[in-house]
Amino acid sequence: MEQARRGVNREMNGRVAGCGKRFWGLLSLCFLFVCLLAGCACAAMEEGVEGLKERVLVAYETSKGSTAEIAEVIAAELREGGCEAEAVDIKDSPLPGDYDHVVVGGPIYMGSIKGVKGFVEKHRADLEERLIGAFAVGMSFAVPDEEKQAEGRKALDEAIAPFAPAHLGCFAGKIDMEKLSFFEKTAVKMVKSPVGDFRDWKAVKEWAREVIKKP
Ligand SMILES: Cc1cc2nc3c(=O)[nH]c(=O)nc-3n(C[C@H](O)[C@H](O)[C@H](O)COP(=O)(O)O)c2cc1C
Repeated sequence: MEQARRGVNREMNGRVAGCGKRFWGLLSLCFLFVCLLAGCACAAMEEGVEGLKERVLVAYETSKGSTAEIAEVIAAELREGGCEAEAVDIKDSPLPGDYDHVVVGGPIYMGSIKGVKGFVEKHRADLEERLIGAFAVGMSFAVPDEEKQAEGRKALDEAIAPFAPAHLGCFAGKIDMEKLSFFEKTAVKMVKSPVGDFRDWKAVKEWAREVIKKP
């Protein structure tokens, strides 16, 4: 009788131990499942942030290449700031509508920035909500002459009219006499323009950082 009772007890203990093992096994499985779900959620969130990266077009005009180099530096700075930015020559017909924001810039020749003006007129509707900054490159900004600088600024205002974005950059440019035609050389000599590379990379980078600062 006693033996039979002990046998039953052993069997009961065995069952209880078996139930305990199953419980812990199930709990471990649940824990793994929750970890898996959390991992997936984090990955999805990261993808979401990535998806929200703002795409910025830096559309530029250039004749001798100095403005192209400034536009590339601006785009690189915007990328440093977390944007997906690219500098594209206006001649390659970039479409502002494909981007979240647009920056336009070009060199002043004989008092105007013709390529930028044409680009702004053509894409006016798409630029309405997207134009966050514009810049001009010229020798007017290489001299400490307020009148000349005001002329340069006027050229920029006219090129981007009717827009007046909060960020307007006026950068000194570069003249390499070897790259100029006879007529261009004559014009440069006539206006007694400074000759050389006057680009201020620090000022360009600082301006680019300002452009993407949230108000
Ligand atoms: C023929 C000629 C005319 C220029 N006219 C002006 C001008 O009216 N105002 C100005 O600020 N700079 C003027 N510049 C300076 C250019 O804007 C400067 O060299 C600029 O960096 C050129 O840009 P790019 O290399 O992208 O073509 C002129 C330069 C040349 C060669």
